[in-house]
Parts: sequence; C-alpha cells; structure tokens
Amino acid sequence: MKKIFILALIILVSFNNSYSQEKIWSETEAQKEERLQWWTHDRFGMFIHWGLYAMPARHEWVQKYERIPNDEYNKYFEYFNPDLYNPKEWAKKAKEAGMKYAVLTSKHHEGFCLFDSKYTDFKVTNTPYGKDIVKEWVDAFRAEGLKIGFYYSLIDWHHPDFTIDRVHPMSANTDEEYAELNKGKDMSKYRTYLKNQVREILTNYGKVDMLWLDYSYPGAHGKDRDDWGSIELIKMVRELQPGIILDDRADLEDVPGGWDYKTPEQFKVDKWPEIDGKKIPWETCQTFSGSWGYHRDENTWKNNKQLLVLLIESVSKGGNVLLNVGPTARGVFDYRADKALQEMGEWMKYNNRSIYGCTQAPESFEVPNQTILTYNPQLNRLYIHLLDYPLTNFRLPGYKGKIKYAQFLHDASEIRITAPYGHHMQGSIATEDDLNFRLPIIKPNVEIPVIEVFLE
Ligand code: GLC
Repeated sequence: MKKIFILALIILVSFNNSYSQEKIWSETEAQKEERLQWWTHDRFGMFIHWGLYAMPARHEWVQKYERIPNDEYNKYFEYFNPDLYNPKEWAKKAKEAGMKYAVLTSKHHEGFCLFDSKYTDFKVTNTPYGKDIVKEWVDAFRAEGLKIGFYYSLIDWHHPDFTIDRVHPMSANTDEEYAELNKGKDMSKYRTYLKNQVREILTNYGKVDMLWLDYSYPGAHGKDRDDWGSIELIKMVRELQPGIILDDRADLEDVPGGWDYKTPEQFKVDKWPEIDGKKIPWETCQTFSGSWGYHRDENTWKNNKQLLVLLIESVSKGGNVLLNVGPTARGVFDYRADKALQEMGEWMKYNNRSIYGCTQAPESFEVPNQTILTYNPQLNRLYIHLLDYPLTNFRLPGYKGKIKYAQFLHDASEIRITAPYGHHMQGSIATEDDLNFRLPIIKPNVEIPVIEVFLE
C-alpha cells in the first residue's frame, strides 16, 4: 500500500514538473527584443471596446451587473445597426492623437462577434448592420499606417457550453447550484470553439500585430489555463502569426513563450515591473472614464494633464499606454473622447520626441524638482517634463559636465544654461556640480512643457 502511494507521488511530481517546464517556443532574449521592437518604440496605442453593450450604454459588463438572461440581451443583437460607422475616421483620430497602433474587441465577454465567424450565429453579419466590422476596421487602420491588434475574450456568456462560473451573469451561490446549472454543459466543446475562432481572426485578416486575450480567474468557480486549453491555444497562435505580440492573461506566466508583456490595468505602476529581478515589457491599459464600453451617464473623465502625465510617466518607467475609446452604437466616438484625443494630439504633435523611442532615464541623472524624465538612447537625449512650471532659475542637481545644449521641445527655442544661481549657492541648496536653466517667466502655451537636453 505504502509503495503504491510513493509511486503515485513520484508520478504526480514528475507530471507536475513536466507540466511547468512545458514551453511554447524557444526564443532568445535578443530575438524577443527584436520582435517587440516596434511596439517598445511606439509606446502609445488605442484600445477600442465595441459590442452590443454600446446600446444599453451602461458598461460593457451590464449583462453581468444586471444579471440579464441571454434571451433578453438578445434585443440588442436584433437592433444593432451602427449606421455612422466609418473606421477611416477612427483611424485618423487615433493617428492624430499620436497613437501608433490599435486593438479592437473582436469579441467581448458577452460573446458577440464583430467578425464573420463560421462557428456562431451570434455575429455582426447577422445583425441589421450586416457587414464584417473587423474587416472594415483592419483595412482602414492599415491604410493609415497603424499596427493592428485583436482583443478576444476568453470568457463567453453566450456560448451554451461555457460553464457558469463566478464571473458569469448567471453565477450561483453554492456548489450544488453550480452543479445544477452546469448539467449538460461541456467545456471541452467551448475550448474547441474558442480555438477555432482565434484561428479565424488570425487567418482571415492578414498580418495581425497583437493579440489581447482576456482573462483568467483561477480558483473556486473560476477559470484557468486548463479551461482555455491555453498551451495548445498559444502554440497555434505562435504558429499562425510568428511575429505577433501577446498579452499575459491566458494564465501562462511560468511558461516560456506563453506571454510577451504585462498588462497593469487602470493603475500606475510604482516602478518598472520586474520578474526575478529582470525588467519586463509592460503596457498599462486605461479608460478615459469609468467604463470600457460606451457609457452615456458616466462622468468621471480624466483631464488632459492626467492623461499626458499617465503617458509620460509610463514611458519614464519603460512602459506603453493603451488608451481606450468606447464608440457609440451609431458607430462614432463620444464627443468627450474626441476632445480628449484632440488635446493629447495637440501636445503630441510638438512633443512626441520625448515619447517615441524613449524609455527610463539612466540612474546617473537625478530627477529635478517636480519633473518626469524620459530618455532616448539612440539620440542620447534627455527629456525633462515640467509638471509644475518653475520660476526663472531652475536647478539641475549634479548635471555639470553632462549637458551640451538644451531647448524647449515644442518650439526649439534655446534654454540658456548657467552655473548654479547665486542665491541657490547662498542657501547651500546648490553645489558646484549643479547647473541652472534660465527659463522664461511665462509658461509656454503647452500643457506640459518639455526641455530637450543634448547630452555629452
Ligand atoms: C477587464 C474587463 C474588461 C476589459 C478589460 C480591459 O478584464 O473584464 O471589460 O475589457 O479589463 O483590460
């Protein structure tokens, strides 16, 4: 008996080991860096959450929050007709805001597909609108020179074999209730469906630059890599689109090749995220207001300065920003999103050199008071973002011998560099190693002025 037990234990342990050592592909660090190069350079993308939930216009989780049964939710499917949809206009707006890539929800948790899928009737081509929205979107965004990505929800509240879990609109309270609700559901059928659909979106629309799978919630009445068949799924993804850049939500953190970057959502990281002491690629995804889908009555919109600081700060910690728009059910951007994009675009037009190709500044540069630094290693330039516009004499701690020239980025007007300001010296605030910028007393007409510093 004891022997059998030990044998079973050995089998179990070795099975576990081989499982965690499973890898999706072997790629060297340098190869990965190369594959992610355009994305690390571009820094700023547009997220687009669009689906039937644009019609209730009260959050993309409305079906869950209000526990709406599918037959009732179906009314949105019957009336979906975004007659003003013009993805060329969207692409132009993204580009003018300074965004270089965009990610569209091909399917969100509600299960509705914006693409023409062979495997379901719950798709855009069966609505009054009748056309493949994803196809039109890809063509328009490509034409503007933007890179394209698909969000695809692992979760599906519409599919009959998707087992009811704690996230589902029909979630239950007890194990018995779950067992009852899930009688006859076969998750393996859903796994096949999910794989088939991911194959469709990665086959029918040409080159796809990014894939955004969303999301896993392991534990009691949750779902994890085994539910999605993540290993097999990602193997297929890598085969179909070897250049693709993949998010981290298929629950494969420990599997080499199982993800490419981290996705901190709706918060700012304190510092460049690390795993085992190694800095990793990351991108924060954020909304303008408190919902991803169009939300008519939600009013907590971030202002221009908050959005710019989010972008600058992310780059200063080596990361990207994916900023979300939730178009209306007519197919246009909300006027508030238009305004936010236009304001960011105004700043980006003159200051994008402090964003594209930039990253965290070398630690040898102390951060001057009330500023954020970014750095372009190719150009060897430092960008000082003045968050709170200073007075005329602005101290650069320890910068002596490190700078050749400085100018405002927006108008290329020289900033004079002097020895530390006399009164700074008297107050023993400055040292001989410091420098001083002589700034105009009046803040330039720029939300966050940037000083471009040419380094030694
Ligand atoms: C969350 C939400 C979802 C949204 C996503 C974007 O996972 O479930 O509604 O699409 O965040 O990051």
